Amino acid sequence: MKKWYAVIGDPISHSLSPYMHDIWFHECGIDASMIPVHIRVGELKEGVAALKRLGVSGFNVTLPFKQEIVPLLGGLDAAAAEMNAVNTVSCNDGRLTGMNTDGDGFVRGLAGENVPKDAPILMVGAGGAARGIAFALKRQGFSRLYIANRTYRRAEELAAASGAIPLSIAEAEEQLGAMAAVINTTSAGLQDDTVPLKLTGLAPGTLVSDIIYNPLETPLLKQAADQGGRVQNGVVMFVHQGAIAFEAWTGIRPDTEPMIEKINRKLG
Ligand code: ATR
Repeated sequence: MKKWYAVIGDPISHSLSPYMHDIWFHECGIDASMIPVHIRVGELKEGVAALKRLGVSGFNVTLPFKQEIVPLLGGLDAAAAEMNAVNTVSCNDGRLTGMNTDGDGFVRGLAGENVPKDAPILMVGAGGAARGIAFALKRQGFSRLYIANRTYRRAEELAAASGAIPLSIAEAEEQLGAMAAVINTTSAGLQDDTVPLKLTGLAPGTLVSDIIYNPLETPLLKQAADQGGRVQNGVVMFVHQGAIAFEAWTGIRPDTEPMIEKINRKLG
């Protein structure tokens, strides 16, 4: 019998998750499909109850419900519990289990980029996305994480919680030349042409990764390319977080490299 999956959010119509998962279901010979489900703010509980009644096998959760969904679930994996946020739900006989694959998705994307685990890494931002990535980097053994943020107090708090070193933006700009990778988790550049820090001191060949994928080339990535950096856009993390969810649902690890190319072409 065909299995159904969903992705829920508000808004949801632009989500690329159904496109990605349907290609993987097809490639893996699995009779299943993912549909976007628009649940309005204030209607999450009813929406999730409806998905349960419909018998979906699992669903992805996107903005603004990643935290609000937590009390509606029967259990959480370690990453979701640590972050108190969920992006993937598995449904088994009416029991809903939440996972968070965002941070590990980012780290999988980093794995292909030859960044040594003992190399200094600078992460900019201290919000929800940064939290997931900081904890995942720590879990995977990256031992020299620096966190810089516009509001320094939040950098201090996240650094204390994740075993990292806090920096002001000015300090981060000064120490940039020593970093093996720079990760932007802020929303600077999403809807404006701002950068969260200046890349003037970037050493050529340094990896600069932005978790934003719309636009594909953020102002920060453009600066990084101009400075001779290696750039990675947010499509990489998006595809890897989806691949970890797909594997949790089906037991099969899908091909990620061709998917990264497909989505870059689709958005380009
Ligand atoms: P998310 O859950 O998506 O990470 P968030 O919790 O609202 O969202 O966090 C947004 C992050 O982007 C924060 O680190 C924020 O910095 P502040 O803590 O100083 O608010 C950062 N941010 C947002 N817009 C920014 C901008 N224009 N320049 C620099 N940092 C910005």
